[in-house]
Amino acid sequence: MPDEPPPLRSADRAPRAELFRLLVEQVRDYAIFGLDDRGIVVSWNSGAERIKGYRADEIIGHHFSRFYPEEAIRAGWPQTELERATEDGRFEDEGWRVRKDGTRFWAHVVITALRDEDGTLRGFAKVTRDLTEEKRAAQLETDVRVVGEFVAMLGHELRNPLAPIRNAIDVAKRADDPQRTRWALEVVERQSAHLTRLVDDLLDIGRITRGQLSLSRRRVPLRYAIESAVEATRANIERHRHQLTVTYRAHPRVRGDSVRLTQVFTNLLDNACKYTPDGGHIDVEVSAEEDTARVVVSDTGVGVSPERLAHLFDVFTQERRSLARSEGGLGLGLAVARHLVELHGGDIVAESPGPGCGSTFRVTLPLLELLADDTEGLRPSVLSALVIDDNRDAAEMLAALLEAHGHETSLAFDGREGVRLAAREQPDVILLDIGLPDMDGYQVARRLRSDPALRGVVLVAVTGYGAEEDRRRALESGFDVHLSKPIDYATLQRRVPIFASP
Ligand SMILES: Nc1ncnc2c1ncn2[C@@H]1O[C@H](COP(=O)(O)OP(=O)(O)O)[C@@H](O)[C@H]1O
Ligand SMILES: [Mg+2]
Repeated sequence: MPDEPPPLRSADRAPRAELFRLLVEQVRDYAIFGLDDRGIVVSWNSGAERIKGYRADEIIGHHFSRFYPEEAIRAGWPQTELERATEDGRFEDEGWRVRKDGTRFWAHVVITALRDEDGTLRGFAKVTRDLTEEKRAAQLETDVRVVGEFVAMLGHELRNPLAPIRNAIDVAKRADDPQRTRWALEVVERQSAHLTRLVDDLLDIGRITRGQLSLSRRRVPLRYAIESAVEATRANIERHRHQLTVTYRAHPRVRGDSVRLTQVFTNLLDNACKYTPDGGHIDVEVSAEEDTARVVVSDTGVGVSPERLAHLFDVFTQERRSLARSEGGLGLGLAVARHLVELHGGDIVAESPGPGCGSTFRVTLPLLELLADDTEGLRPSVLSALVIDDNRDAAEMLAALLEAHGHETSLAFDGREGVRLAAREQPDVILLDIGLPDMDGYQVARRLRSDPALRGVVLVAVTGYGAEEDRRRALESGFDVHLSKPIDYATLQRRVPIFASP
């Protein structure tokens, strides 16, 4: 057959194969490498070295899963890729991969199954391209768009309450009738409260984004945070004629920031109120099981569609103009709530059977302890304090003072016992004498600070002398505050913030 090229003589074949090998080896824009049928790297080109950072002799013989982030490995993704390539001949993927130095890059990957003439699987060819720059550019574009939309919405939502405020002022100025003036002032009150909430949410999101939001932790009965949230939303709930039921199946106490926990439940109740047509039902249920405290807020409102459920807690997401909403928000409340719950070591999830079928929000928090008596739940400012002082009279006197102000105390008379009690009781605050018989107060402070479980504890140095040198040394050893004896309660309130806040 004259048209067919003449069959290759084996003498020609060798140079072509050599040329092909050089081509693959020297391509620098793509990582091209071979795997055997188990995923062990068997060949490596210069693009692979450039993109992934390993030299051929460092990586050949190793399993290819080391190119994947930990979470992908845990999910069994490398193996899944090989299985899919084996089944379909090839598999294409985009995702984060890890370089030798631990940094990540965004990769576009094609895996091709290599079979010999009999169809036996011999291994895989993997071609990877680094798309990090493209990914960044695309992300930036999305970010710019989202921020632009957010700013437009922000202007709108901030302006909304201003119109009724200005009108109300106008009405009040002209009204002769005190009842009308009163009504106008109530409008101003309500709308400026709403404005304040919007601005507070904005400020919180700013702090969260910059990692600057911190908690002032103490023992909080959940009941206290919930009652405060109910109090904050009561007027709103009544105006919408909703029926609110709060049920306590247990009285859990958690370690946390009572102001921030109140904010979480206020956000949930506000939403339930806002996204439920007038005259609906809102239920709050508090319970505890094993080491978890649980608060469930459910309503009979507009519900959430399945595709939106996943994004409810993202910043800047909101059902666009879903209701004719006279009480708009910035779509930040749930993002803030989630962040606050996570700072407490907890979790928040949303459920809804679908639009029109109501919503349920479940908050779980690590349980500190259960209170037997529900009246205790209304005392928010109980601190647990550990006093360490070898002078028994001084220790007992200070403890009595704290107890007189409603706090719980425990006592230790030397450093070792103090460290042991601190680990067991995890108090909110430790008042520590510096001159102790066994280890001195500075050593005790360093020991306490090295215990991760005690990270949030407030450490107060209590000494006979208030010299500048002692003060400096105390702060260096990890104390938060340095006080000179004798101590009275007013000094504690003034100098140690945890005693001042509610
Ligand atoms: N109880 C609820 N019922 C139905 N949808 C809700 C509920 N709570 C929140 N959502 C939805 O989640 C979105 C985000 O809530 P949030 O962050 O509090 O923002 P905002 O209250 O400012 O709208 C809301 O816009 C709404 O679409
Ligand atoms: Mg909200």
